[in-house]
Amino acid sequence: HLDAHGPEGGYSFDGPVGKWDVAQLQRGLKVYSEVCSACHSLKFVAFRDLEEIGYSEAQVKAFAATKQVPGIDPNTGESVMRPGEPTDYFPSPFPNAVAAAAANNNAIPPDLSLMTKARHHGSNYVYSLLTGYTDPATFEKDGKRLMEEFPDFQTPPGLYFNPYFANLNLAMAPPLGVDGQVTYDDGTEATVSQMSADVAAFLTWTAEPKLVERKQTGFAVLVFLLFATVLAYFAKRQVWSSVK
Ligand code: HEM
Repeated sequence: HLDAHGPEGGYSFDGPVGKWDVAQLQRGLKVYSEVCSACHSLKFVAFRDLEEIGYSEAQVKAFAATKQVPGIDPNTGESVMRPGEPTDYFPSPFPNAVAAAAANNNAIPPDLSLMTKARHHGSNYVYSLLTGYTDPATFEKDGKRLMEEFPDFQTPPGLYFNPYFANLNLAMAPPLGVDGQVTYDDGTEATVSQMSADVAAFLTWTAEPKLVERKQTGFAVLVFLLFATVLAYFAKRQVWSSVK
């Protein structure tokens, strides 16, 4: 299969001094909410975590209330669905794994909270996977045609060919198929590539919300170590200055 690559120009959070592009994270949340959440949960992300990507407490409360989460009826003790609260986690759209598999040609859509950590070069992988669906009949790698190398290759009915997926055929139909599938509030043009990059960035945040802080701490540590080294050097000169 193909090695994953990111969007042209890379991500704002790449590199040692990379930072989140908060507007992009918010667009990615929108793509997740309007498209991916039909099949995938984000079980390690609470609605209140969204305050970290620029939403107010009131906005989080309003957003959570639009989602249905599993709860208990306080009067009867029965399991019911109720509107979400800021402390709730992004729910699964399916009541259980059997229902999830039944709706998806026997494959269970995995939780996406940690997906960009679970896969090699995960942020790029998510981008490549979303933009990478293609026709196996014309697919070639290193100048060799798949169908010439492996004439028996088939994409079974109900599966979709994607050269970035390790098995090549996967049970997820291309979720982002047309430009403008999502309407962005900030006026950004919602091309398939843009939506894919935005949701990949958002899922990088869900998997590693402290990524930028980690880099900034690392930078401060390096500055300190450099300072400590210089100090140690002059201290050593001072201590040994009388020894000829
Ligand atoms: C698998 C992302 C929308 C159904 C996956 C995987 C990722 C992903 C990263 C894992 C691939 C792997 O294991 O390496 C997304 C994103 C979406 C989205 C970012 C929104 C843009 C959907 C939707 C559905 C769906 C709407 C259902 C209609 C599935 C299924 C699998 C899967 C069934 C398992 C595929 C298999 O193992 O064969 N998705 N997905 N996904 N997704 Fe999605």
